[in-house]
Amino acid sequence: MQKELHEENRRSWNVATDAHNSHKGDQASFFRHGGNKLYLEEKELLGEITGLSVVHLLCNAGQDTLSLAQMGAVVTGVDISDTAIAFARTLSADSGVPATFYRMDVYDWLEEAAKEGQQFDLVFCSYGAIHWLSNLSVWVRGVATVLKTGGRFITVDYHPVMAMFDEHLNRKFPYFRKNMAVTMENGIPDYVAARGKGLPNTSYVEGIKDFKNPYRAYRFPWGIGEIITALLEGGLRLTHFQEYPHANGDKPFLHMENSGHSWSLPDDQPTMPLMYAIVADKPL
Ligand SMILES: C[S@@+](CC[C@H](N)C(=O)[O-])C[C@H]1O[C@@H](n2cnc3c(N)ncnc32)[C@H](O)[C@@H]1O
Repeated sequence: MQKELHEENRRSWNVATDAHNSHKGDQASFFRHGGNKLYLEEKELLGEITGLSVVHLLCNAGQDTLSLAQMGAVVTGVDISDTAIAFARTLSADSGVPATFYRMDVYDWLEEAAKEGQQFDLVFCSYGAIHWLSNLSVWVRGVATVLKTGGRFITVDYHPVMAMFDEHLNRKFPYFRKNMAVTMENGIPDYVAARGKGLPNTSYVEGIKDFKNPYRAYRFPWGIGEIITALLEGGLRLTHFQEYPHANGDKPFLHMENSGHSWSLPDDQPTMPLMYAIVADKPL
């Protein structure tokens, strides 16, 4: 694990999260009125979750965590960012949607939860989560420990193939990174401003302008093979794997077609995988 890089990521996420939320309008009202910001892809994989205990890892400011709660789950969110968790707690209180949040490095939380014998029906993470993990096998061991027998791990995330290309779709970066961190010299950007979308059915707010992040960030763009191998070696059983030609909530390349909150390559271009989903369970 590269804890010193996680700490730099925490600082970078702290300032970026403030910028992101400045564009999202009255989020408490969105959730108070039953708003749910999960996409169809994860909703279908989750299925009926009423009454299930769900831990949402790398939950950022808790919007997806509260959305899981809106589906009837008893939810816990974990994130390293101080501002994200402070925002999540306030959003939960102001919207009246219950959730418990921990501000911790996910590795520390997994270790503590295991010591306390905490277990969940579901471990969930999504959309820009796995590439922040500096050690996959330690993470999967932790996930497997906090899952009840028969419990499920579900993720929908951006496809690592996307990270091989620059914004003009020139193939520029290696897929196989040999465990090396990728340095984001300009830190976490204000991607909410860049795509000009806030929450579903809510208008975009101008908010913080010309955001510049003073802190670098470090990503670990694991390949799909590495992710699946880590899950299998950690004792989980793969039950579903899927790739998608669109990216929910992200516009990775300059020329893309937008339908609502999802972006795809134009029809005259060959398709490539932009997201993937994994479901794995903890066998009896
Ligand atoms: C792209 S966001 C995930 C957003 C998420 N899909 C959601 O529900 O909004 C990535 C999050 O990972 C968190 N993160 C990065 N490294 C972490 C770590 N080591 N432990 C816990 N959280 C971490 C960041 O603070 C950030 O909030």
